[in-house]
Amino acid sequence: MKSKYLIVIMALLALACSLASAYDPSPLQDFCVAVKDPASALFVNGKFCKDPKLASANDFFFSGLNIPSDTSNLLGSNSTAVNVDNLAGLNTLGVSLSRVDYAPYGLNPPHTHPRGSEGLIHFQLNVGKTKAVALAGFNSQNAGVITIANAVFGSDPKINPDVLTKAFQVDKKLVEYLQKQF
Ligand SMILES: *[C@@H]1O[C@H](CO)[C@@H](O)[C@H](O)[C@H]1NC(C)=O
Repeated sequence: MKSKYLIVIMALLALACSLASAYDPSPLQDFCVAVKDPASALFVNGKFCKDPKLASANDFFFSGLNIPSDTSNLLGSNSTAVNVDNLAGLNTLGVSLSRVDYAPYGLNPPHTHPRGSEGLIHFQLNVGKTKAVALAGFNSQNAGVITIANAVFGSDPKINPDVLTKAFQVDKKLVEYLQKQF
C-alpha cells in the first residue's frame, strides 16, 4: 500500500521538475521561416518571419550533413551546425542539430551552449586510432557555443593575466603563454 503512495508522489514530483536549464521561448505559431528582409516579413518572434503563404519545402531542407567536415586543424575536430542561420524553417521551432567529426586523436574542447541543452550520439567510439562522428541535438534554434579555453585565454580585450594567474593558481608565464596561442 505504502509503495503505491510513493509511486504517486514520485510521479507528481517528476511532473513538477524539469531538467532543461536553458531553452527558447515557446513558439507562438506553427512555423516561422526566418527572412532577412523585414519589408517582406509578416511578424516578429525571434527572427522576422516569412509570410506563411510563401513558405516552401526548401525552407525546411538542409543538405550536406552526410559530408565529413575538414578536421585538419590543431584540435582534430570540426562541427557542421544546422541551425536557424542555415535552415530558416527552424525559426521558433526550438530545435537544431550538429554533426561533429573527429580526426584520429582529435577532441572537441570543453565548451558550453548558452541557449540550449544538448543530447549527443556517438556513432563510432573514438579510441584514438580511427575517425569518429557524433550527432548532437539541441532544444534551441541556435544553441550558441562558448569554448572555454578561447573565452578565458583568447578574449578580446584580454583578461588581465594577474587575474588568471591567481584564479588558476599557476605561474604568470604560463598564463601569458596560453594567451599568446590565440
Ligand atoms: C570545418 O570544416 C569546413 C568544411 O569542411 C571547413 O570549411 C572549415 O574550414 C573547417 N573548420 C575548421 C576550424 O577546421
